[in-house]
Amino acid sequence: MKKIKVGIVGLGRLGRQHAENIAFRIPNCELTAVCSVLKEEVDEVQKQWNIPYGYTSYNEMLENKELDAIFIASPSGFHCEQIKQALTAGFHVFSEKPLGLYMEEAIEVQEAVSAHPNQVFMLGFMRRYDRSYMAAKKKIDNGDIGEPMFIRCYGLDPAAQMDNFLKFAKANYSGGLFLDMSIHDFDLARWYLGTEAKEAWAIGGSYSRSEFDELNDAETGAAMVRFENNAIGIFVAGRNSAHGYHIETEIIGTKGSLRIGTIPERNQVVVMNETGVVQECYDGFLERFEQAYLSEVEEFINCILEDRKPSVNVNDGVESTLLGYACKASFETGNLVNVQDLSIQLNEKAEDTPLLLT
Ligand SMILES: NC(=O)c1ccc[n+]([C@@H]2O[C@H](COP(=O)([O-])OP(=O)(O)OC[C@H]3O[C@@H](n4cnc5c(N)ncnc54)[C@H](O)[C@@H]3O)[C@@H](O)[C@H]2O)c1
Repeated sequence: MKKIKVGIVGLGRLGRQHAENIAFRIPNCELTAVCSVLKEEVDEVQKQWNIPYGYTSYNEMLENKELDAIFIASPSGFHCEQIKQALTAGFHVFSEKPLGLYMEEAIEVQEAVSAHPNQVFMLGFMRRYDRSYMAAKKKIDNGDIGEPMFIRCYGLDPAAQMDNFLKFAKANYSGGLFLDMSIHDFDLARWYLGTEAKEAWAIGGSYSRSEFDELNDAETGAAMVRFENNAIGIFVAGRNSAHGYHIETEIIGTKGSLRIGTIPERNQVVVMNETGVVQECYDGFLERFEQAYLSEVEEFINCILEDRKPSVNVNDGVESTLLGYACKASFETGNLVNVQDLSIQLNEKAEDTPLLLT
């Protein structure tokens, strides 16, 4: 069977996990090239895993005609440009979330994907490939909870990672709490509720570290969203979860409700001693979504081999970015934001000057 030859850009926390999955855990693909701005990262991975090609220039990697697909795990601000370049060079493309940090560039990518209909494009909304989130989707589609009309999501990063995050955020603009963290929940809400956002109101603050204020970002924030079908969404995101990585989702329908990850337990061990009854929590996204990261890459490779398109597409990237952008605008101005009006406004402005929220 043909093996899909992949080149990956970005060898950081997630890039390395994807690289390892491609190199060792998926039989019908090969990790053929690795690329990063840091030569030491390229050298280390190339040597450790015996990878044929290593690059510190993305453009040079795109000239490698042996490759079939490009995997993008660079910081969020580079995704759009790198996706467009890879599509133009004729490759299938997988990009990490978010699609982009600005609406006009996200729309440009949407146009670029449409202009290359024979190439596979997939966005890394891996929760859609997590077993529990997939099981919940089946139950909702089966009518087990009636018509879903409310979704509540918690996306909380461990406090133990806060220093690392602040270092990352100072070096690479992440888009802020709603575009960086809540974006997964916005995608899930659209997926489960089958509708788009209509209005958004978001608030947030810095409660333990002043650096978030300096970055014009929130350490913890919450958004309330009304969807076009009148369904309600409540999205809480934060960087200061004392007990660890906590991703929780509740969906209430007209005939019942379901919850995913209410207690983010690392395993089934419960310790009972003088401190009480204790269960350990996941320490981060790599541990909680290990299976989903592998399954999404398998799906991308199978789509290329079977000449079909993945269910997570560029439109999901554009719509979730729009909602993230609306929440960011609401957080910055204190106003309720009409999401569809914002979309029209952004499209009009994009034709004149790029609109950048700082
Ligand atoms: N799906 C998820 O659950 C999830 C989780 C974490 C991160 N992410 C996304 O993955 C992306 C990477 O995040 P991370 O945490 O791995 O970041 P990171 O900082 O750990 O790694 C970034 C990597 O990109 C390299 N790099 C930086 N600028 C570059 C450039 N211009 N060209 C090529 N390489 C460059 C860095 O040297 C590093 O290897 C981000 O967009 C982030 O939003 C997604």
